[in-house]
Amino acid sequence: MKWWHEAVFYQIYPRSFFDANGDGVGDIEGIRTQLDYLTWLGVDALWISPIFPSPMADFGYDVSDYCNVDPVFGTLEDFDRLLSEAHDRGLRVILDWVPNHTSQEHPWFRDARSSQDSEHRDWYIWRDARSDGSLPNNWLSSWNNEPDWTFDEGSGQYYLHCFLPEQPDLNWANVRVREAMADTLRFWLDRGIDGFRMDVIHLVGKDPDLPNDPDDLLFVGHVPLNDVPVTHDYLRELRRVLEEYPDDRMSVGEVYLLDPEAVATYYGDQDELDLSFNFLSLLTPWRAEAWRDLITRTENAHLNVDAWPTWVLSNHDNQRVASRLGGDPVKIRSSAILLLTLRGTPFMYQGEELGLLNGEIPEDRVVDPGSRDGCRTPMPWTSDYPHGWWGEPWLPFAADSVGYSVETQIDDDESYLHFFRSVLALRRSQPALRRGTFENLNVESHVLRFDRCAGGDVVSVWVNFGREACAIDMQGRSILLRSGGAIDEALLAPGEAVVVA
Ligand code: NOJ
Repeated sequence: MKWWHEAVFYQIYPRSFFDANGDGVGDIEGIRTQLDYLTWLGVDALWISPIFPSPMADFGYDVSDYCNVDPVFGTLEDFDRLLSEAHDRGLRVILDWVPNHTSQEHPWFRDARSSQDSEHRDWYIWRDARSDGSLPNNWLSSWNNEPDWTFDEGSGQYYLHCFLPEQPDLNWANVRVREAMADTLRFWLDRGIDGFRMDVIHLVGKDPDLPNDPDDLLFVGHVPLNDVPVTHDYLRELRRVLEEYPDDRMSVGEVYLLDPEAVATYYGDQDELDLSFNFLSLLTPWRAEAWRDLITRTENAHLNVDAWPTWVLSNHDNQRVASRLGGDPVKIRSSAILLLTLRGTPFMYQGEELGLLNGEIPEDRVVDPGSRDGCRTPMPWTSDYPHGWWGEPWLPFAADSVGYSVETQIDDDESYLHFFRSVLALRRSQPALRRGTFENLNVESHVLRFDRCAGGDVVSVWVNFGREACAIDMQGRSILLRSGGAIDEALLAPGEAVVVA
C-alpha cells in the first residue's frame, strides 16, 4: 500500500477557500492560513484546483503558463511556503494539472494560430472544413452542445476544443507536446509536490481520424465518449516521469467515462494512473439498490485489474451532496459514513464537512459558462457576514451561512463539522476501514450492509436508504458511530448509517 491508498483527500477550490489579501478571491496564503483547520479536521492530503496563470475563462482550467502561479492566487514563493508548511504538518499536496487543453492565451497557441507554418502549429488539432463546407466532425461540447470546432480567421482552419473555444485541445500525438508537458510536471515535482490530479486525462489521446460520434449519443457531448487505446501509451509515459522522483509521487486521473469497468482500465498494469476518479457516485440516487449496484460494479471492475477504487460525492463541477440529499441532516451524515468507509480512497470537497448546500446564484452574479457557480460558493468561516471574507466575495454565499459557518459549527458538538471529524478519526483508528477487504452482505432490500476486514478485525457498516427502521445484528459488538439519534440502540432509523465493531 502506498500513502494515497489510505489517505483522505480534501479538494480545495482556491478561489472560494480563504482570502488572505482582501481582493474577494481566495488565495494560496489563505490556504496556508487554514492548514491548522485542515489538520484539526483530520484529512491527509490536499488537492488544490488550478492556481496557474490563466485568463480564467474556465476559472483556471484554461492555463496560459503551467510553470507559475496566477497573481490572483499569489506567487511561487507563497506556493513554496504553503507546501513546506503543509509537509511540516504531515499533509501532502497535489496540484491540478490540465493536460488536454491550454488557454488560447498560452504562447504555444498564440504562435500556433499565427500561421499554418508556425513552429507550434502541430501542437494543436487543426482541420479544414469537409468538402461540403461542414465542420470537420460532429463532436459537441458536453456543456452546451455547441460544436467542438472554431474557425480561426487568421490562419484559415478550424481548431478543436472539447470545452470552450478559449481552451484549444493540445495535440498529444506530437511527441514535442508530450515532452513539453512532461517538463511542466517536473517543474512542480522539483519543488516537492506530492502528485497531480490530471484533468480529463482520458481525453488526451484522440483517434487520428477524429471519427464522428454516434448520432444517438450526441446529447452527452464528446468528452464521455473519448476512450482510445493510445491514451494508455501516454499514461505510461507520464507514470515514468513521476517515477523519476523519490517519495512516491502520485497521479489521480479524471477519467470522465461514467463506467467503472472503463475507468479501471486506466490503471493499466500498475503502470498508468495510480488512482482514477469514478464519477458515477456523483450521479447515483440515494437508493439502496442503486448504491449496491454501483459498489458491486466498482469492486468487481477494480479487483479484476488489481486497482484501488476512489469515491467522491461532491466536487467543483457538480451539485453538492447535501443538496442532492435534500438537506436531510441524517442522510448527510450517513453520506459521510458511506464515503469514508467504502474500500478505496475518498475525496471530499471543501464545505462538505459543513453539510454546505449549493448556493442559489442570482442571474446578475452568474460567472461560470458551465453553470457550476452554485457548488463553488465561498467557505463561510465566521458566523457574521462576511463570514471571514473582507466584503462580498467573487461569488455570493450559500443560504444560511451563519448556521453552516465553521465558527458556528466548531462551537456545537452536534454539528456536521464535529461529525465529519469523528468519522475521519474513526477511519484513521481502524486499519480495516483504511485498507481492509470489502464484503457486501445482503440484508433487507432498503439497507446496504458491508464488512471491512483487516488482520482479524471486522468493522461493519449499515446504511438505511429506506423509510423503515431495520434491526442491527450487533453480534455482541458495539456501535462506534451513528448518523442519527438512537431510539433503540440496535435499531437503524430511516436514513441512518452506523459503524459497528
Ligand atoms: C474538468 C474540470 O473538473 C472542470 O472544472 C473543467 O471545466 C473541465 N475539466 C475542463 O478543464
